[in-house]
Amino acid sequence: MKTTFGPKKIMFPCPTTLVVTGSFEKANIVTIAWVSLLSSSPPTLGISVGQNGFSGNEIKKNGNFSVNIASANIMTESDFCGINSGKDIDKFKATGLTKLPSKIIMSPIIKECPLNLECKLVDANIVGITNHFIGEIVETHIDTDKLRNVNIYNSFDIEAINPLIYIGGAREYRVLGRKVGDTYQIGKNLKVKE
Ligand SMILES: Cc1cc2nc3c(=O)[nH]c(=O)nc-3n(C[C@H](O)[C@H](O)[C@H](O)COP(=O)(O)O)c2cc1C
Repeated sequence: MKTTFGPKKIMFPCPTTLVVTGSFEKANIVTIAWVSLLSSSPPTLGISVGQNGFSGNEIKKNGNFSVNIASANIMTESDFCGINSGKDIDKFKATGLTKLPSKIIMSPIIKECPLNLECKLVDANIVGITNHFIGEIVETHIDTDKLRNVNIYNSFDIEAINPLIYIGGAREYRVLGRKVGDTYQIGKNLKVKE
């Protein structure tokens, strides 16, 4: 049996990302869980950013942002950036998170995050009550101590990265469970029903 609730904004799991906007000197951090890859070529992603916060206007003004994946060890700092506004506080100073210069864009990346994506704004729309920003990923940084082979981007050790997972709807943080299968492989084992 199922029950229904009408239209609800519920989706899980979501990554917990820290999006950095603004210049190196005046950078702000906003916690964003509504993020999705949109295209593989060029690598492109979309983020939903509320119209009332500080970050939306910063992205429109500067035309770039970095998306930084949070690990569980910075859960408290990540949550802080999601319950305070850059209108009122310098979140880099308050949290002690460290800015590193990006290679291509103006906004910095966060040292404590193991994966950092530099994005150039390529489109901006309003969806419902929210900004939807489309960013082309123009550079990717990964901590070398999280890579099994430093020359291969997808050789990362996901357990070492330990991403902070957000369960939308329940408003909980979780961490990853164990691996249960190989993608694009396990489906080949299906005994197709006649
Ligand atoms: C776990 C978590 C996820 C969040 N995800 C989003 C999101 O996807 N989009 C959004 O607009 N706000 C999201 N927020 C809320 C913003 O981070 C929050 O409104 C923040 O204070 C805005 O900061 P700013 O004014 O400095 O931009 C999230 C907050 C938390 C704690």
